[in-house]
Amino acid sequence: VSLPEPLVRGKVREVYPVTDDTVLLVASDRISAFDHVLPTPIPDKGLVLTALSLWWFERFADRLPCHVISADVAALPERFRAEAATLAGRSVLCRRLRMLPVECVVRGYLAGSGYADYRATGAVCGHRLPAGLQDGDRLPEPLFTPATKAPRGEHDQNITLEELAGRVGTEMATVLRARTLQVYREASRVAEAAGFLLADTKCEFGVDGSGRVVLADELLTPDSSRFWEAATWRPGGAQPSYDKQYLRDWLAGESGWDRTGPPPALPDEVVTATRHRYVTAYERLTGQRFEGYLAECWVAESAAGA
Ligand SMILES: Nc1ncnc2c1ncn2[C@@H]1O[C@H](COP(=O)(O)OP(=O)(O)OP(=O)(O)O)[C@@H](O)[C@H]1O
Ligand SMILES: [Mg+2]
Repeated sequence: VSLPEPLVRGKVREVYPVTDDTVLLVASDRISAFDHVLPTPIPDKGLVLTALSLWWFERFADRLPCHVISADVAALPERFRAEAATLAGRSVLCRRLRMLPVECVVRGYLAGSGYADYRATGAVCGHRLPAGLQDGDRLPEPLFTPATKAPRGEHDQNITLEELAGRVGTEMATVLRARTLQVYREASRVAEAAGFLLADTKCEFGVDGSGRVVLADELLTPDSSRFWEAATWRPGGAQPSYDKQYLRDWLAGESGWDRTGPPPALPDEVVTATRHRYVTAYERLTGQRFEGYLAECWVAESAAGA
């Protein structure tokens, strides 16, 4: 492989330096769960995450500045060209940002660590909630529930708005909250039209050279969000969903993994069922068939005009 050394090797993506101001974000087919990368990739997952993120970034481009510059591999510098066939469809040229070390989460429904915190304390990230809510219940209103970005192998911790302000400043905390709530509210409507409830989603933001707050990383994918089947939603337990939950459930149950040692290889049927959920999320949200890489590319207006 002729690619340069990445700046960052994430669990799912690699970040390569391109120029002083730009990076190439490359989404692999790796999948992570419970803070571990699994030994078995999910075919086409990197293509789905990339295509779906681009679709959402484009939808929001006129009102939410984002990091996308171009998904056209032909426009990359010479040193990336030998790998063009591998990079096509899973790489995006982005503005290089100073990433804020927090996960910006909004929850419209109670699930996962939000439900766990509620059960333990009656609150989520400092938001006190009514008693008697069940796993999967709709919250009285969407809540901003930020978390720290834990070092590799460690678990993100939910924090209050005050703790967030302590880390990034009060003004920045206010901006992050407003932007993430906006993403959640607008995306929920799109998801509902596709028969999904957007239970929650996570955004990441960075700051560019002129101090602007920019939406980065991935957006509203099955890795970063919970998409529940609206038609069968019934609080009181796990919901049928088009995201990573199926894999988490298999890992926590049937696989017999105790979560201490290395995670197990995934059987073919688990790979296929996971891939099916990711592809279905893409197809129902965008209304387009997933056909692998589409040669078409999109250049962000927000990047060009900013
Ligand atoms: N425009 C950008 N400029 C610089 N870094 C970026 C940009 N967009 C995303 N990143 C960073 O690229 C990395 C993507 O990798 P990946 O999503 O696999 O990380 P991860 O292992 O999930 O860890 P994390 O919890 O940090 O997301 C993240 O560290 C993310 O913060
Ligand atoms: Mg990530």
